[in-house]
Amino acid sequence: MQQATARAHPNIAFIKYWGNRNAALRLPANSSLSMNLDGLFAETTVNWNDRQPADTFVLNGSEQSGASLTRVSTHLDHLRKRLRLSARAHVESANNFPTGAGVASSAAAFAALTVAAVAAAGSQLDERELTTLARLGSGSAARSVPAGYVEWHAADTHEGSYAESIFPPSHWNLVDVIAVVSSAHKARGSTEGHGAADTSDLQAARVAGVAGRLEACKNAIRDRDFEAFAQVVEHDSNLMHAVMMTSQPPLFYWKPASLALMERIRDLRADGVRVCYTLDAGPNVHCICVRDDASHVIGALADMSEVMETLTAPVGGGVQIIAGT
Ligand code: DP6
Repeated sequence: MQQATARAHPNIAFIKYWGNRNAALRLPANSSLSMNLDGLFAETTVNWNDRQPADTFVLNGSEQSGASLTRVSTHLDHLRKRLRLSARAHVESANNFPTGAGVASSAAAFAALTVAAVAAAGSQLDERELTTLARLGSGSAARSVPAGYVEWHAADTHEGSYAESIFPPSHWNLVDVIAVVSSAHKARGSTEGHGAADTSDLQAARVAGVAGRLEACKNAIRDRDFEAFAQVVEHDSNLMHAVMMTSQPPLFYWKPASLALMERIRDLRADGVRVCYTLDAGPNVHCICVRDDASHVIGALADMSEVMETLTAPVGGGVQIIAGT
């Protein structure tokens, strides 16, 4: 087998990854926790080819060069080393969600790339190792490999920093209603932001409190306690954005529309709707709610002039090989 195709979902973090203790290996400053987003996916085919002089990469139908190709090729170098391969690869990847939707595509992309590349080489690695390999391409990709609710462990070694499912998708029917307020390409990507995290005086304080928040978040999911969940998820998102805003250079991902939405979400919750917000490295607002309240949330967002569109994603499974062995 030389060719395989894998499909992976993006994920949304409830306890955020921000900053690395080792940037080259993407060993994160802190552990994080997320859920996979069903219905949205990256589908990636890898073909190892002895006769190809260099790696090639086609994304959403267009041949890539420069930084985009280099990032994929560097990741393939890690995989070649582990798989003891010298062949170059042809990689084709496509996302079924719009690039401007504010959903980080790197998590789904590197999870699918890693799993497809390993399968195409005819190797079988366990899920834990696959998460560590995916992590080398994009930190959050480690969390897109296992199913459902996933914890990614911070550690000082490559082997120790892996992700695992802590609850299956069926455990709790949470839904991410993504409110798109801007489809502009972000000015500064996550990789650059991680590098600046330690320039904020607040990063050490944020990291010091992660273990407690992660425990609180896990317990809230375990008990399906939405109020406790909402408190810790919003707090953790706010803390990450406080670090971002106080880094050198400062990173302001929130737009006025993001703030208007955060306020609306808090008001809805005060009225008894089980919804809370979290934001990644962009202005779009992920409104996390229980499935029974999703249509109410979607309706409330549709009434807001700040919202361009919404995407709705329930809890998703893990990465899947859909062709090849
Ligand atoms: C704000 O995993 O995209 O979404 O490792 O450089 O690819 P790289 O960074 P990435 O960072 C994600 C940051 C975040 C928070 C999170 O998903 O935990």
